[in-house]
Order: sequence, then structure tokens, then C-alpha cells
Amino acid sequence: MAAPGENLRINADRLWDALQEMAKIGPGVAGGNNRQTLTDEDAAGRRLFQKWCEEAGLAMGVDQMGNMFAYREGTDPNALPVYVGSHLDTQPTGGRYDGVLGVLGALEVVRSMNDLGIKTKHPIVVTNWTNEEGARFAPAMLASGVFAGVHELEWAYGRVDAKGKRFGDELERIGWKGDEKVGARKMRAFFELHIEQGPILEDEDIDIGVVTHGQGLKWLQVTIVGKEAHTGSTPMPKRRNAGLGMARVTELVHEVAMDYQPDAVGAIGHMEVYPNSRNIIAGKTVFTIDIRSPNKEVLDEMEARIRDGIDTICEALDVQYEIEQVGHFDPVTFDEGCVKAIRDAAERLGYSHRNIVSGAGHDACWINRVAPTAMVMCPCVDGLSHNEAEEITKEWAGAGCDVLFHAVLETAEIVP
Ligand code: GLV
Ligand code: MN
Ligand code: MN
Repeated sequence: MAAPGENLRINADRLWDALQEMAKIGPGVAGGNNRQTLTDEDAAGRRLFQKWCEEAGLAMGVDQMGNMFAYREGTDPNALPVYVGSHLDTQPTGGRYDGVLGVLGALEVVRSMNDLGIKTKHPIVVTNWTNEEGARFAPAMLASGVFAGVHELEWAYGRVDAKGKRFGDELERIGWKGDEKVGARKMRAFFELHIEQGPILEDEDIDIGVVTHGQGLKWLQVTIVGKEAHTGSTPMPKRRNAGLGMARVTELVHEVAMDYQPDAVGAIGHMEVYPNSRNIIAGKTVFTIDIRSPNKEVLDEMEARIRDGIDTICEALDVQYEIEQVGHFDPVTFDEGCVKAIRDAAERLGYSHRNIVSGAGHDACWINRVAPTAMVMCPCVDGLSHNEAEEITKEWAGAGCDVLFHAVLETAEIVP
């Protein structure tokens, strides 16, 4: 395969402008974004992305999960396309770059190819996956999961948000339910550019993370039921306090994760307390445990210890509990050939690089099951993400996108 010349670069100014333009849609309250999946803001972001794709000469396809596929022809009609992308949806208090960099970086790859008159044998498809975040509808990476055959379409449609709205209904409401069968497309490869969302690259002053693995994850949604009662007049021994149960499980999750350092993390980010009144002992709590590790055995052991611990805690407090697994994927090893294409690209371009394990979940983790896949990472300030203050520099984004550009061109094979 012909390697692209080291002089080829994307247009970092244009990429940066696109990122800032997209960030105007669904602004947050502190400089970031609230463009949660299947909201009106998501629809507006999709329209802008579609407009940009069409201006770049791409033909848009939309599948039954609302995944967007913007197609650039190759010279060989029988050659499998190279897919490139990420997600445009954000957390409720999300940053401007988590996911968005990967979609607009993919668009920038095509825009740069157009500028330079580059043709490839394999078509290129710029992709926006629906509901990567999983903040509104669990689990995360829902639509890429359906694409990869991990989830059933009807199951995904039936996921509900906190207000009881169904995913399928909301997809239809915002006008992005396509006709195309999900997962019908075959890929030569999939590449995803993403911010690191952790501190390693910045701390070590390294331009590029070559993502070799992704850590595995489990989300366990726990419901504890005790008894609502007066906070003043109920004697301490008679209380059946679901809030106390949640507090003890929170501590337990932290302790278990600390026992597996440095290769495990654990936290509870979602907590609901009922009836949430100052002078009523909580009768019910609902919360989601998020545990992760690059090592499957560690993840399984953590889960077993947490389940045992919940049982002991709830028995001692005389409260009932239920546990529902609402998200899960095993640790991922990305495709050697795609990883090499990324490492070679960083080398050729003169960027410093190191291997890295992704701490976050990504659509690439599911697509890796159905196509050769790899990811490129760039640093982010203080490793901060899932926070409106998430920040990167134009240079970091540009370097990441340059590497993406080269890896994609090499895989799609430039036609002289
Ligand atoms: C997705 O953003 C995740 O939770 O890793
Ligand atoms: Mn992301
Ligand atoms: Mn995210």
C-alpha cells in the first residue's frame, strides 16, 4: 500500500472553526455543551453536520438507529469503504470535543482530500453514531452496539429516559429515523479520533496516543427500597434507610476499585433519592455503579465483590434491593494493522507518540467486533472530560487529525 507523503496535512484552522461552530448548538451553562442524544439540539447539530457533508460532496445515508453515514466515492465500486467518525451527542454538562472532534475530524479528512484533489480506491464514509454517551438512554454506545449485533433494534427502541420517553419515539420525533437496516454495511476498517479524557499525554508532553486497547466496563443499576418515615420522630434502630444503603454502597465501590490499583476505577455518578424531602428518611434510592478495568478477570472479581457487599449492607439495614445490569462490554484489543497504520502515521509526520489504553468507552469498542478498528487520541487539558471546562488546543486537534488523515489515506489507498 502506498504511504501518503509526509508533507500532507489537514487544515487545522478549518477544523477548529468547525468545532467552535458546532459548539454554538446546544450550549451548556459554563462554556461547554448540552446536546444530549435525540433532543432538538441533537437534531440541529445533525442538520449542520449534514449541510457540511453535502457541501463537501458527500451523500448522506441514515439507518434505523439514526446513525449518519456520509459517503465519498472511491475509484473501485467493489472496494469496501473505510469508515471514520465518532459521536455528536454530549453529556448534559459535556465539553465541546468529546466525540465531536472525531466526527468533525473525519469531515476535515475529506475536506482536505477535496482541497488536494486526492482520490482513493476505497470509498470513505464520515460517520456520526447515535447516543454514544448513554446519559439520557442507557447504555452508552447504544447505536454502534446495535450496528455490531450486540443489541437488538427493538430492545434499543424500548430504552427509556428519566421522563419515561422511549428511544424509538424520540428518534422518530426529531426526524432522524432512517430506513436503512442497521449493521448492513461492511467496512474495510473503522478509525476514530478522540480526546484522551485522561492526563497521560499532557503530563508526558506527547502529541499522539496510539490506542491499543480499551478497558472493559460494567454498569449496575441498583434500586434499594426501605421505608419512608419521619426524620425526627423515628427511633434510629427502627429506620429502614435506603439513603444510608446507597451511601455505604458508594463507599464500597470506591474501596473495591482502590484494591485493584492502578488497573481499575469505580464510581457512582447517577443517584436518585425518593421522595427527596428534607425531613423524610429516604424510602427508595436508585443509582448506577460504573466499574472499569482493562483486565476482564479484575472486572469480574470487582463485580462479584460488589454484589456480595450490597447483599451484606442491605441485610444489615433491613432494606430490599434489586440489581440490573444496564451496560457492559469486555476489554477490547484493537486491530494490529489499524493500530500500526496510526503509529506509522504519527512517526511519518514527526509527532511524538505512545501506546495508550482508552479509559472511556467508544463506538470503536463495538465496531471492533465487526471491522478492523483503531483509535487515535490527542491530549486534553488536565485530562478533564465530561465537564463543560473540557479543553484542547488547536495544535493538539490538528496533530490528531493529521494522523487520522494519514491512517485513513493509507488504508483507503491513494490512486495516483
Ligand atoms: C462514554 O463516554 C463513557 O462512559 O465512557
Ligand atoms: Mn466520546
Ligand atoms: Mn463521553
